[in-house]
Amino acid sequence: MAGEGSGFFITFEGGEGSGKSTQARLLKDLLEESGLSVLLTREPGGTDMAERIRALLVRGDPDALSSTAEALLNYAARDDHLRRRIRPALRQGRVVISDRFMDSTRAYQVLAGDCPARLVDALERDVVGETVPDLTFIMDIDPEMGLTRAGRRLAQDATNNKKQPAAQADAALSHDSGSEDRFERFGLAFHKRLREAYLTIARAQPQRCVVIDASRPPEQVAAEIARITTARLRKAGLLPGA
Ligand code: TMP
Repeated sequence: MAGEGSGFFITFEGGEGSGKSTQARLLKDLLEESGLSVLLTREPGGTDMAERIRALLVRGDPDALSSTAEALLNYAARDDHLRRRIRPALRQGRVVISDRFMDSTRAYQVLAGDCPARLVDALERDVVGETVPDLTFIMDIDPEMGLTRAGRRLAQDATNNKKQPAAQADAALSHDSGSEDRFERFGLAFHKRLREAYLTIARAQPQRCVVIDASRPPEQVAAEIARITTARLRKAGLLPGA
């Protein structure tokens, strides 16, 4: 449990191109329509400092940082995010939805990477502490399908950029360091380990984690997420019973 006031903490996790950002936005809209106050945020990021740390992590050469350096930077960002945004919102009784959180570090840096588990165990204990999510959606998708989707999205983002559309699109397609695609370029073997890593986390914490088949059409995925979240919020007393 989030252990903070009467709020409710939901996280979205998964590999690249799993549609979690879209689903996080759809869930925010749905809960707001039900009258709840929602903070939608993301990691790495969510505060000015954490967004600056994000820029170091998600751009450039895949070899630029070790898994351990990535874990430490993500936790520096997470500590700021927890203190300045997540815990204050939970204390106010709000629903917090974060697009990625602590399971990303365990999956990407420890289970798919080579950061020692004991380091992340300690960081989870001392930085996350009691602010463990109440509900985590693990968006599961075949990595080849996910990476294809993510590649398309990056190229689209770049094309939509009004400043230098051609150059930006070329940069995205040729994997230039200007794009937020550093982890997408880790290779298929890494992304296959990543999928297994998330399924391992879900098996270890079945109360908190729900695995969602993210290969289905977005509206089907959204309906399942809405049903599960509504049931949990009713149980927690944040939404009236059926
Ligand atoms: P995004 O693709 O969801 O915007 O996330 C940015 C990238 O950062 C994504 O490739 C996963 C990676 N990441 C980690 O490796 N460890 C972490 O702890 C977090 C939060 C993200």
